[in-house]
Amino acid sequence: MAKDKTRFVCQSCGAAHPKWQGRCEACGEWNTLAEEAPAPRGPGPAAKAGGGRRVEFVGLKGSSAPPPRIPTGIAELDRVLGGGLVAASAVLVGGDPGIGKSTILLQAAARVAAAGRRVLYVSGEEAVEQVRLRAGRLGLTESPMALAAATALRDIVASLEGENDAALVVIDSIQTVWLDALDSAPGTVAQVRACAAELIRLAKARGFAIVLVGHVTKEGTLAGPRVLEHMVDATLYFEGDRGHQFRILRAVKNRFGATDEIGVFEMTGTGLMEVANPSALFLAERRGNVSGSAVFAGIEGTRPVLVEIQALLSPSSGGSPRRQVVGWDSGRLSMLLAVLESRCGMSLGQNDVYLNIAGGLRINEPAADLAVAAALVSAATDRPTDPDRVYFGEVGLSGEVRQVAQAEARLREAAKLGFTAATLPRRVARGGKAAAPPEGIALAETGHMADLVAVFAEKTVKRDRAAP
Ligand SMILES: Nc1ncnc2c1ncn2[C@@H]1O[C@H](COP(=O)(O)OP(=O)(O)O)[C@@H](O)[C@H]1O
Ligand SMILES: [Mg+2]
Ligand SMILES: [Zn+2]
Repeated sequence: MAKDKTRFVCQSCGAAHPKWQGRCEACGEWNTLAEEAPAPRGPGPAAKAGGGRRVEFVGLKGSSAPPPRIPTGIAELDRVLGGGLVAASAVLVGGDPGIGKSTILLQAAARVAAAGRRVLYVSGEEAVEQVRLRAGRLGLTESPMALAAATALRDIVASLEGENDAALVVIDSIQTVWLDALDSAPGTVAQVRACAAELIRLAKARGFAIVLVGHVTKEGTLAGPRVLEHMVDATLYFEGDRGHQFRILRAVKNRFGATDEIGVFEMTGTGLMEVANPSALFLAERRGNVSGSAVFAGIEGTRPVLVEIQALLSPSSGGSPRRQVVGWDSGRLSMLLAVLESRCGMSLGQNDVYLNIAGGLRINEPAADLAVAAALVSAATDRPTDPDRVYFGEVGLSGEVRQVAQAEARLREAAKLGFTAATLPRRVARGGKAAAPPEGIALAETGHMADLVAVFAEKTVKRDRAAP
C-alpha cells in the first residue's frame, strides 16, 4: 500500500490538493488551504462487518406517508423548513458569527420543548452559564429543554445513545465538535465532516431531528458550512448585515420543501421576532418623490415580496468608474448599463454607479432587471418614479423585456399594499385571454427598455413645460 501523505484541504469547499497553494483551484478562494492528515485507509466499517442484509426492492406505485413533522411553532422558520422539522433528518443552519443562529435555535428549541417533546441543546461555543443568560434575555428560562456544554464527539454520541425519546438535538456549533481519533485540528474539514457524519447517522438511526450550526468563516482556518451541504437534508442560511435589524433565513437546499423559501425576522432585545408581512417592512423607510428609487415586485420562494431598489449615479473622478452593488449581482448590473447605453442611447459610462436593495435582502431573480433599470433611468434623468408603481420583468441583451413567472401573484401583492400601477412585460394570452389583473392596478405593458426610457424623457418634457 502506498504511504499515506498529508494533503492540503480547502476549508471553504473541501477540495483536496497534493501540495500547498495560495489559491484553491476548485473554488477560487485565497488562503483557504490547510494541511490535514489523511483519512485512515483500509476496509470501511461496512466491509469489515461483512454479510449484509438483503434490501427489499419495491415498485414506484404505492402510497408513502408524508414524513412526520415537528413544527417549531415559529411560522417563518416552519415555512422555510417546508412545514417544520422532519424526524430523522439533518438541518444545517449557516451564517456569519453574531447573525443570530444561536438565538433562533434556542427560541425554536424552547417551543418544541414546550410542546412536550424531548429537546437537547449541546453548546460547544458557550458555557452553560452563557446560554442561560441568553435564555433569560429571551424569556425562556422556564423551558424544559435539556442543556449541555460539550465538544468531544465521543461524549456527545455516548449521551445521545442513551436517549430513547429525543425529538430534536441542536449542535451549536459543528465546528467546535471534535473526534480524538483524527489527527487534524478541531474545525478542519476532516473533523467537521467526520463529526457531522457520525451525528447524522445517529439522528437517522434514533429518529430525532438534528440541527447543526455552522459559522460562515472568512479565513481559511475553520471549515465553513459549505463542506457539509451535501451531507444534510436541508441547508438554511441566515442573511442580513449586523447593522440592520432584519434577518433573512433562506433555504438553499431542502429535500422536504422548496428551496429559495425565505423567512423574515427582526432582531430585537428579546430575540428574533417573526415578520409576517415583509413587504410592508421593506418599504417602511421609503421616501416618496426621490429619484433613483423603484419598487420591485419580487418572488422569494413561494411568497411575493416587494422591495425598494435604490440607484445613485455620480460623475466619476477619472480612472475606471466604480460599480458598487449591495444585494444584487454586479454582473447583471453591468449588463443592464450596457443595454441602456447600446440599445437605449443613454450615456452612463462616465458615472460611478451605486445600487442597493433596501432592507438588506439579497435578490437573485432576473425579474428584478426592469426595476433596477427604472431606478437607474430615474437616477440618470433625476425624475422620480411614480410612488404607487411597481416594476418587474427580465431584460434581454437586445433590450427586450421578457416574461417572468408568477406575474399574477406579484400584482396581487402590489394591490394588497396599495400600489395602483405596474410596469411589466407584455402578457401572453394563455388559452385566448390573459388573466385579469387585480382590481385597482393599471398595467403598463412594456416590450422594450427604450419604452421605459421614453417614459422618463416624457416626464422631463412635461415638467419643463409646467415650470414657470
Ligand atoms: N444583550 C443583548 N441585547 C440585545 N441584543 C443582543 C444582546 N446580546 C446579543 N444580542 C444580539 O444577538 C446577536 C448574537 O446572536 P447569536 O444568536 O449569538 O449569533 P450567532 O449564534 O449566529 O453567532 C448579536 O449580534 C446581537 O444582535
Ligand atoms: Mg452562536
Ligand atoms: Zn476551495
